[in-house]
Amino acid sequence: MANLRFSYFLERARAANLPRVWQMAGAIGHQFRKPRLNVFCDMLWSAARYDCAFQDFQDWDFAILSRAERRTYITHPMSNRYALQLNTDKRANRDLSDKSRFNVRFSDVIGREWLDVRETNEDELAAFLNRFTDVMVKVPDSLGGKGIERIRTADVTDVAAFRAERMRNRQFLVEEFLQQHPRMAELNSSSVNTMRIASYNDGKRVHILCRALRIGAGGDVDNFSGGGMYTMLSPEGTALYPAFDDANATHGIHPLTGVPIVGFEVPLFAEAIEAVKAAAQRIPEVPYVGWDVAIAPDRPVLIEGNYNTGVFQAKPSVSGLRRGLLPVYRAAIGH
Ligand SMILES: Nc1ncnc2c1ncn2[C@@H]1O[C@H](COP(=O)(O)OP(=O)(O)O)[C@@H](O)[C@H]1O
Ligand SMILES: [Mg+2]
Repeated sequence: MANLRFSYFLERARAANLPRVWQMAGAIGHQFRKPRLNVFCDMLWSAARYDCAFQDFQDWDFAILSRAERRTYITHPMSNRYALQLNTDKRANRDLSDKSRFNVRFSDVIGREWLDVRETNEDELAAFLNRFTDVMVKVPDSLGGKGIERIRTADVTDVAAFRAERMRNRQFLVEEFLQQHPRMAELNSSSVNTMRIASYNDGKRVHILCRALRIGAGGDVDNFSGGGMYTMLSPEGTALYPAFDDANATHGIHPLTGVPIVGFEVPLFAEAIEAVKAAAQRIPEVPYVGWDVAIAPDRPVLIEGNYNTGVFQAKPSVSGLRRGLLPVYRAAIGH
């Protein structure tokens, strides 16, 4: 066992981008007044001991947590393992990971019109673009906000060229740019701000594992990659703590709009939870799903479902909470 751990540790260390880990260790050491080398070793050690990715170590402030506290965190490697063990139906997984298929399977709850340029001729595309001021183009099988682009339809002067460019970029999906609830737009209007709600369907009922609110910061998307941030929500849908972003910056008020994040109440939240439970029940072949949920002016809508969802937990140094969601996951799913 110890041997196994050690070889795993070495393998991780070899695979890791050590200069980047060293850089992260420097920033974390500076933040918590700890020697950089100690933090660096702790990051490698935590990868082996707690199955903790380096980004996890940064996001959830492992540097200041005790062993017992660390053991309460569900890390990205652990979540991946849950997904591998639970979501074994590859076809059904694809109904989620392929955004075109998702839009077909969940057409009644996505709240937006869309088309696939592979199946649309130029006239149909032109007619579609005419109906909206903005569209979102997407690569159907990408993740993390990659390949997604907001386009003002007034800028499209040559539909044939637009179509050719979409085909070249594999941005086959063209969606109406969603109108979000005015309260959600107040937080940050450049992107649709979504919730990530993870669910587990045990075959009888749907458990809600996590509720996070993601907020964009000037970009087209609210993902970390687009400069976005997140915080956790109470069971009633109120933001509990300041949000934090990819670069480890924390925000009690939104950096661009000045809107207070702590205490922000997501409108139509109870309806959003119901929508997630209903959606989870519609795809029981995939028991563990992370849903992106937006709030339209009159109802919650689903943006997508991830069969290999990331993990969202409170950040100890800003929340004061030193307990992760692993007990919640284990109570619902088991070990
Ligand atoms: N039709 C849309 N209109 C407006 N914003 C959208 C639309 N679809 C997605 N978004 C924004 O883009 C983000 C990423 O989209 P998503 O489909 O979840 O792709 P990814 O797999 O890259 O996360 C969403 O969280 C939301 O902020
Ligand atoms: Mg998403």
